[in-house]
Amino acid sequence: MTRIFSGVKPTGHLTLGNYLGAVRRWAFVDQQRADALFCVVDLHALTVDHDPGRVRRLSRQAATLLLASGLDPELCTVFVQSHVDEHARLSYLLECVATDGEMRRMIQYKEKAARERERGGSVRLSLLTYPVLMAADILAYGTDEVPVGDDQTQHVELTRDLAVRFNQRYGHTFVVPRAVRPEVGARVMNLQEPTSKMGKSDDVGPGVVYLLDEPDAVRKKIMRAVTDSGSGQDVVYDREARPGVSNLLEILAACEGGNPEALSGVYESYGALKKDTVEAVVELLRPVQERHKQLCADPAYVEGVLRDGAEKARGMARPRVDAAYRAIGLLAAG
Ligand code: TYM
Repeated sequence: MTRIFSGVKPTGHLTLGNYLGAVRRWAFVDQQRADALFCVVDLHALTVDHDPGRVRRLSRQAATLLLASGLDPELCTVFVQSHVDEHARLSYLLECVATDGEMRRMIQYKEKAARERERGGSVRLSLLTYPVLMAADILAYGTDEVPVGDDQTQHVELTRDLAVRFNQRYGHTFVVPRAVRPEVGARVMNLQEPTSKMGKSDDVGPGVVYLLDEPDAVRKKIMRAVTDSGSGQDVVYDREARPGVSNLLEILAACEGGNPEALSGVYESYGALKKDTVEAVVELLRPVQERHKQLCADPAYVEGVLRDGAEKARGMARPRVDAAYRAIGLLAAG
């Protein structure tokens, strides 16, 4: 059976981008068709300046939202990364296979490091090695497919390179995984800056729709979305020339299960497009928010799911990580 692994990082509240690019597919497609693991990757949240209490709160919230989005512990494994030591154990071995040049070429590293430096802060070493930990997350489970949004493509490519290199040097140990992206919604852009990704730790809050936004907040954010002034009012799909309008068409299409090209030219004004997009997003989020509310009233259930999930995940990861320890030349403990 196909093995799937994917994760979400608790560095902010989950966004519409996370949902359309990844989580929705995990819930409605992946968990039904494969042996799937979904993880709140909390160790990754420590790579930038962070408040310990906030990371804990966001980790719990992310796990609750994954369940609210429809992940079913009867069908898949949901857990928190730091509860399973194998991720950090394997990450060190992969650091011994990766090169520093490779790490420095990662686009997300370059962007985030530049941002940290601009703010006058220093760059944590873990920000540089982050993609290696991500590779460990994936490779520990013999993963075939990694369902992610567009921004993770380079990291999954690196994961493939490390798996192949390790296998060539030390004998076949890892499955070489591949990224799987949704056709629509793989790159939802910030509503205020439609040339940048909608990210959960963005400073431009008004441009980000969060999964837990009230309908009124969703309405305000979408109605105030930047459209493409100076280029006429044609509501056409053209990512390059019309990033603002195209983003709204993409969001609307993703919500409705259609495609944005088919919506090109259907709307006569930005206002009408925005109104329909508001409705579609509010309807999309409604069941998630309702279920989230119920789950918040039952924290013991969520904790139980995470405890069982970690135990299952540990059992799946340990044999392969132990095999990697032996293959690379470490002496087995008696
Ligand atoms: P993270 O937490 O940034 O995002 C979680 C998932 O949401 C997708 N995504 C988006 N998709 C479309 N439009 C957007 N604006 C958007 N923003 C985010 C991401 O592509 C991702 O699929 N490094 C990863 C977490 C990670 C991981 C892993 C993922 C750690 N280990 C192993 C897969 C496998 C990250 O920061 O995702």
